Amino acid sequence: MPTSRAAVILAAGQGTRMKSATPKVLHKVGGKAMVDWAIDLAGALDCQRTVVVVGAHSPVVGQHVAARLGASAVAVQDPPQGTAHAVRAAEDALAGFAGDVVILYGDTPLTRPESVSSLFQARAKGANLVVLGFEAEDPFGYGRLILDDTGALARIVEEKDASEDERLVTLCNSGVLVCDAAVLFSLLSMVKNENAKGEYYLTDIVGLARSSGFRTEVVVADEEEMMGVNSRVELAEAEHEFQARRRHHFMTQGVTMIDPWSVYFSHDTVIGSDVTIEPGVFFGPGVTVESGATVKAWSHLEGAHVGSDASIGPFVRLRPGAKLSAKVKIGNFVEVKNATFGEAAQASHLTYVGDAEVGARANLGCGTITCNYDGFDKYKTIIGEDAFIGSDTALVAPVRIGARAFTGSGSVITKDVPDDALAVARGRQKDIPGWAKAFREKKLAERAARGGKRKEAE
Ligand code: UD1
Ligand code: MG
Repeated sequence: MPTSRAAVILAAGQGTRMKSATPKVLHKVGGKAMVDWAIDLAGALDCQRTVVVVGAHSPVVGQHVAARLGASAVAVQDPPQGTAHAVRAAEDALAGFAGDVVILYGDTPLTRPESVSSLFQARAKGANLVVLGFEAEDPFGYGRLILDDTGALARIVEEKDASEDERLVTLCNSGVLVCDAAVLFSLLSMVKNENAKGEYYLTDIVGLARSSGFRTEVVVADEEEMMGVNSRVELAEAEHEFQARRRHHFMTQGVTMIDPWSVYFSHDTVIGSDVTIEPGVFFGPGVTVESGATVKAWSHLEGAHVGSDASIGPFVRLRPGAKLSAKVKIGNFVEVKNATFGEAAQASHLTYVGDAEVGARANLGCGTITCNYDGFDKYKTIIGEDAFIGSDTALVAPVRIGARAFTGSGSVITKDVPDDALAVARGRQKDIPGWAKAFREKKLAERAARGGKRKEAE
């Protein structure tokens, strides 16, 4: 049987440099809260148990975690006294657990599962404690990994406690580590706070492990994966890196982007092959685009499904619940919310479709509006297959337009329209012959009497 796995996610820091009423780990990267990146990382690593260590100062973080994983996944560290103290705060929540524990961080959203996986592999091969390190371009501020003559990890020294020689070391501690649970908590019980910061350092367990005869090892990953977020500037840098990864990923999967640097994805965006995305498109959470579709410039999509070979945009807004079948066409300045479009249905210009079902091949003329809200409740509009909605039709919901039915331009439709019928609901046109000619002559005569001057508008 494979060794059981558990994750402890540290998220008790104050995050004061964010200057935010929202706790740091609830700020989002790629539309997902940073703490959720860590929780999902634990999931991707097959951790059977996950405990998030939160500070008493941010109860909303605990509530957020409890809503996802249950109250037993929350451990409170009060007050925070260092990273070793934080991991110890998770000990009770992990009571009865035997196996490997990985330490992860609620403010490091870019760590890849593959990198942490190699720590578990090194553990499986016999190392008792495996640390994830990286070569830092600028090591200032990081704990340094000090290796012995054999290249094994001897200890970790924090910046503030390091000698001049040690500060020259560029191999740094990411903070991520894997250790057998029993070994981890026994080493943690020996950690003292006699250091520059007066904190209980998790990093001290390396030296303690070595002096207890345990095998320690380092696995090296890319620095960019270890980027921790402490400020809005770093949040934007993490977002930048996330977007760069997603753009690259989608292009390798067969998505064409004319200007990938102007296209923004969310953590869960799904794009099929041979989709073309024009510049300036934003994908909020929950969007799927099927193969062969085109998303034209300056469109904003969230919570939406775009079927294969559909054409969306330019300047389209798809809001949550927009479900477009294959070959649908949605053109400029059209907003769709909580509405399904059957195959090859169209709304090409200046239209609002909310709380609706649009049948296959139906055509919504320019300026069609579903009037779905009376200030209190929302109502549904149903448009049958092959229906033709004339330009500037207001469909006052709840209302049903029959299959193949037409509505006259400018109609305000308040009653159901039968299949194959034409509904016209507007003032009838009446022509008064010669009226315009007589009016113009009268007005020109008045102006001549004034001395040829136009009358100024008041
Ligand atoms: C820590 C490491 C350092 C490493 C660096 C990587 C220690 C002693 N040092 O330093 O070797 O190079 O991370 O970024 O571990 N936290 C708690 N409770 C606490 C203290 C911290 O939950 O009492 C959490 C913080 O929210 C943060 C993480 O642990 O997510 C790291 O803490 P931080 O204070 O940033 O440690 P560093 O000094 O950066
Ligand atoms: Mg830090």
